Amino acid sequence: MFTLITLPYASLEPVISDRTLSFHHGKHLNGYVNTLNSLVAGTPFEGKSLEEIISGAPAGPVFNNAGQILNHNLYFLQFAPVPSSQAPTGRLLARIQQQWGTLEAFQAEFEAKGTGLFGSGWVWLAAKADGELCILQCPGADNPVAHGLRPILTFDVWEHAYYLDHQNLRAAHLKALWQIIDWKVVEERYTK
Ligand SMILES: [Fe+2]
Repeated sequence: MFTLITLPYASLEPVISDRTLSFHHGKHLNGYVNTLNSLVAGTPFEGKSLEEIISGAPAGPVFNNAGQILNHNLYFLQFAPVPSSQAPTGRLLARIQQQWGTLEAFQAEFEAKGTGLFGSGWVWLAAKADGELCILQCPGADNPVAHGLRPILTFDVWEHAYYLDHQNLRAAHLKALWQIIDWKVVEERYTK
């Protein structure tokens, strides 16, 4: 049985309103959890991890709901109302500087690719096995795990992530998200 993650914070205001957080976590993510549990019951996917399901399921409802749970878990757990680290350090910072020149240049490309993704989906920072980083634009529930890559950082660009707060202004929402990214969590995903 998959369960809804408990958020390690009570609020992310003013970057994400409490109303958006409540709907996004308590309704949208909870819905994916309940749907996946009913879809996999009595199938070969029952008892498998999200990663195993994502790697093995064909395109369709099982893949979509497993993907959305994994994606949202990584999304919600990378935030903190007061981040313990407001910028990457160490190996992750060095790699970003090697590939993009500066952190600001990376952030600008990440925001642009999130803003430019047509329709619903996710923009990801992902790592290859040798440590090389890449930015992925993934439609729907797609994610780096489905492509053999390690997920490091993600922005949800489904309208449910921002419409109550910013209406159609996706770019404004994405720019604000950097304020609550806990780079310590992101770094741990890269260096583990
Ligand atoms: Fe979402």
